[in-house]
Amino acid sequence: MADQAERLRELVRQKQQVVTEDNSKCKIITVTSGKGGVGKTNIASNLAISFSMLGQRVLIMDADLGLSNVNIITGLIPPPKYNLSHVISGEKDILEVIAHGPCGIKVITGAVGVTKVANMGTKKRTDFIESLDSLLPLFDLIFIDTSAGLSENVLSFVLSADEVILVTTPEPTAITDAYGMIKAIAAKNEAIKVGLVVNRIQNIIEGKKVSDKIVNIAEQFLGLKIERLGYIMEDALVRKAVSEQAPFFVTYPNCKAASCISHIRNKLAEIPEENYSDNEKGFFSRLFQRFQS
Ligand SMILES: Nc1ncnc2c1ncn2[C@@H]1O[C@H](COP(=O)(O)OP(=O)(O)OP(=O)(O)O)[C@@H](O)[C@H]1O
Ligand SMILES: [Mg+2]
Repeated sequence: MADQAERLRELVRQKQQVVTEDNSKCKIITVTSGKGGVGKTNIASNLAISFSMLGQRVLIMDADLGLSNVNIITGLIPPPKYNLSHVISGEKDILEVIAHGPCGIKVITGAVGVTKVANMGTKKRTDFIESLDSLLPLFDLIFIDTSAGLSENVLSFVLSADEVILVTTPEPTAITDAYGMIKAIAAKNEAIKVGLVVNRIQNIIEGKKVSDKIVNIAEQFLGLKIERLGYIMEDALVRKAVSEQAPFFVTYPNCKAASCISHIRNKLAEIPEENYSDNEKGFFSRLFQRFQS
């Protein structure tokens, strides 16, 4: 952990030296769903790796309320010893809770702990939020893997992001719950960019049917424009990789699901910078404002 922290501090020093010339913005992509178990963690982890393979600096934060699975899917076994709760308690520095995942991705677990900052004193809270925002210049992309469902916490992560990836499967219950999430987003009446991924499809026709249905209803009844980010085929190698505790994009790079991930990555990469929110405040400051309101 000491070595890791030193490597990251070096990264910070290097970044500080170039920061004046570097106008690139760290994009925050929240991965969410209405129904649980539809593939969020697999999609967030493998997409993160796919961007990292292109040379992007990528962090994935596990904000799942339930069991933290990013470490399993990215193959971080044993799980990182320290997480954000240790930063909140003051035991660790933010750089010390960043674990090194496969293909250069960085991982922070326990991001859901940030919702507990309401109980912190003002000075401690401000320091904590600043330490989180200090991560932003170190990365090109931050993926946030949320738990399923419509809690206020998940919605805060969704509404603060630059881009939301809403995951569903063709199952009717998953589609209904995806609508529920879309409705909740639309009710906030904010300009949130939502992209849809239909996971576990049998064929493209099925994927197109599901995404047309969701996209059309969202636009017609809620006035929310949803981008079709793509589909992921049902693939036994995804399950195999999960049981082997390794990301399929690395272990089975030629599998159907991996090529679908590459398509989605390319689609995300096409989204122009100016489409991302241009808020002076850092992502975490925005997020905490929502937790407090
Ligand atoms: N494309 C796929 N093909 C086959 N199986 C899949 C696919 N995507 C996901 N799965 C299966 O679904 C399981 C759940 O996936 P994952 O943990 O990524 O879902 P989740 O949405 O993050 O769940 P939770 O809501 O519990 O956090 C995986 O362990 C895997 O077995
Ligand atoms: Mg998950």
